[in-house]
Amino acid sequence: MRALPFELSEYRGRQEEFLSQMPQDSVVIIPNNPKSVRSNDTHYRYRANSYVLYLCGWEEPDSVFTAVFLDGEWKTSLFVRPRDTHSEIWEGRRIGPEGAEKGWPIDQSFPIEDAKEHILNAMSLGSKPSIIQGLDNRIDDIVLNQDPDKGPVIELSDIQDPRNILDSMRTIKSESEIGIMQQAANIASSAHVKAMEKTFPSIGEWQIQAIIEGHFIHSESQWSYPSIVGGGENATILHYSSNSETIGEGDLVLVDAGCEVHGYASDITRTWPVSGKFTEAQKEIYNLVLEAEIAGIEACKAGSPWRSMHEASSAVLARGLVELGILDCSESEALGKNLDGPYRNYFMHGTGHLLGLDVHDVGGGRKGDKNPGPVLKPGMVVTVEPGLYFASWRDDVEIPERYAGIGIRIEDDVLITEEGPIVLSSGCPKSIIEIESIVGKSR
Ligand code: GLY
Ligand code: MN
Ligand code: MN
Repeated sequence: MRALPFELSEYRGRQEEFLSQMPQDSVVIIPNNPKSVRSNDTHYRYRANSYVLYLCGWEEPDSVFTAVFLDGEWKTSLFVRPRDTHSEIWEGRRIGPEGAEKGWPIDQSFPIEDAKEHILNAMSLGSKPSIIQGLDNRIDDIVLNQDPDKGPVIELSDIQDPRNILDSMRTIKSESEIGIMQQAANIASSAHVKAMEKTFPSIGEWQIQAIIEGHFIHSESQWSYPSIVGGGENATILHYSSNSETIGEGDLVLVDAGCEVHGYASDITRTWPVSGKFTEAQKEIYNLVLEAEIAGIEACKAGSPWRSMHEASSAVLARGLVELGILDCSESEALGKNLDGPYRNYFMHGTGHLLGLDVHDVGGGRKGDKNPGPVLKPGMVVTVEPGLYFASWRDDVEIPERYAGIGIRIEDDVLITEEGPIVLSSGCPKSIIEIESIVGKSR
């Protein structure tokens, strides 16, 4: 049983900040993730829901966090799996309600079987459910079906979602959260360095994945998203995941791999030549992406709008694509009025996202979001990750022969502070000179 990563008082502070913004006629219901079947009777490794981790650090499945306002104060409850010798012999020890009450930041704890009655009771006393739906159908059904014998007590239109409040709280990390995110960035940085050191021409993508993920496990961590290891042309596939090919001499490998520590993610991408030497053409694209990434990081200033880093990286890429003769137009045409010019033919994704308990963390600014994203504030952690991709098989845009098959992304994790950006993943080298001196060193 792992100890909680934060003092009980830190969780209590989060609960207080959250509940002080909730209407007092609410019953807050935050189900944990259910276990998911992988095949027949085996399951995927369990990962608790990030909202539950945030509010109380509970990591066992079949559990629900609730809060109701009673006798002038909020009372938090955790419904958990009861102790059960037979199940514990097969599946591992359980904490149980008594253990939960003693060691977790909640007022009371009960067996999960009691959750239905507790929720229906609160609703029948007039509390409106504020629930994160879609996490656990069994809990959604309690709220949606209510008690068929008594008829509905709450209009479905009265059901609220607590995420608006929680999401914006989660965007600002405390000192202790930043400490943990720094650990996650350090472990992932070392994993990338180890993989660079052991890379050689014709290495399998899966072998690089094994070095990276072996280091995560060795460091009491685990991946925060499936590792992307794309050699050669596979580096141009944004969500490449099979990691199943060998990487030819002269090719680059793009590795997008991060880990999580107590649920907090790191998310790092580096691209290096398997031979240890960039070709001239690879250098030209690499240096352009690196310049765009550094410009994106420099734009991570407290008070700046979310789009600042995307604007900064995009301007560098558009200018560079014109200078390299890849785009035959002016810089401003390449960029486009709304950052929608032809530079997007080769840079198709956003420049970054918030990072935290989820790798694409809550609070806006996610890739693909239509909203403008949050203003950057001290305590936010974001990624900066421009890239350029020249898939040789594309026939919808021109792919210059010199660069055909090259895919390069560079991604760092950046803490916003009043004094400027701090790169949490600065332990992961990214200049050509450093990378060339590391690759293949301990093959
Ligand atoms: N690894 C996913 C991303 O960079 O957003
Ligand atoms: Mn990434
Ligand atoms: Mn990312």
